[in-house]
Amino acid sequence: MRKPLVAGNWKMNKTHLDAIHFVEELGHHLADFDQDRVEVVLVPPFTALRSVQTTTEDRHQEFGLGAQNMHWESDGAFTGEVSPPMLKALRCDYVVLGHSERRELFFETDEIVNRKMKAAFEHGLVPIMCCGETDEEREAGRTQSKVETQVTQGLEGLSNERVAATVVAYEPIWAIGTGKTATPEDAQSTIAHIRYVLRSAHGPEVADAVRILYGGSVKAGNAASLFGQPDIDGGLVGGASLEAGEFAQIVKAAP
Ligand code: 13P
Repeated sequence: MRKPLVAGNWKMNKTHLDAIHFVEELGHHLADFDQDRVEVVLVPPFTALRSVQTTTEDRHQEFGLGAQNMHWESDGAFTGEVSPPMLKALRCDYVVLGHSERRELFFETDEIVNRKMKAAFEHGLVPIMCCGETDEEREAGRTQSKVETQVTQGLEGLSNERVAATVVAYEPIWAIGTGKTATPEDAQSTIAHIRYVLRSAHGPEVADAVRILYGGSVKAGNAASLFGQPDIDGGLVGGASLEAGEFAQIVKAAP
């Protein structure tokens, strides 16, 4: 049985002070919620990781912590970059890799994503590996081949055990920050294809273990119908994760 996971990717939003208020507020909204049911992960910018970590621990909240990106090297002359051991020292559990904004705006390739995937596992971080098609690719009927390539190349060279532990996030690029959401049926169909790709390459046990999230304009109002699909194991939420009340409602929508 896969445990649902709902992660809030704050992108480049919130100072470390905003983050402290957010964690307190979210704790309040989820006070009566059985958190054994759903894994809740906060993915703040680097500058707020420490505040989220300490506030979560001080308040005895069960929120997981994730980073939005990282370099694949452990240290060295890479101005502006953050390494896996630095994230691990902040007690990060997760790292988002290959987000479409990293791919489109910062030219990350599948090869770079693959290097980062390997580095994440080497350092005990669980990657949330993103994939998804552009509007143009969707119109051209290339959704399945696009995600297949991204997933296959991103996971290349990883053991079955590591693949099984990976979290995949299917985020159609045309749905990110646009208010346009994939229909639950379309999201299910692409995510089922991702699971089929995993099954073909790594066998049924691995494919059944991988948690696959949907991302792209998830809101309180559409979360239940998306998360209710058989292959959708939760969400990677952007804009709607910035407000604690709405994010809590999304968490509660997980099956
Ligand atoms: P939105 O929820 O704002 O569409 O963003 C989705 C996303 O990119 C999460 O990583």
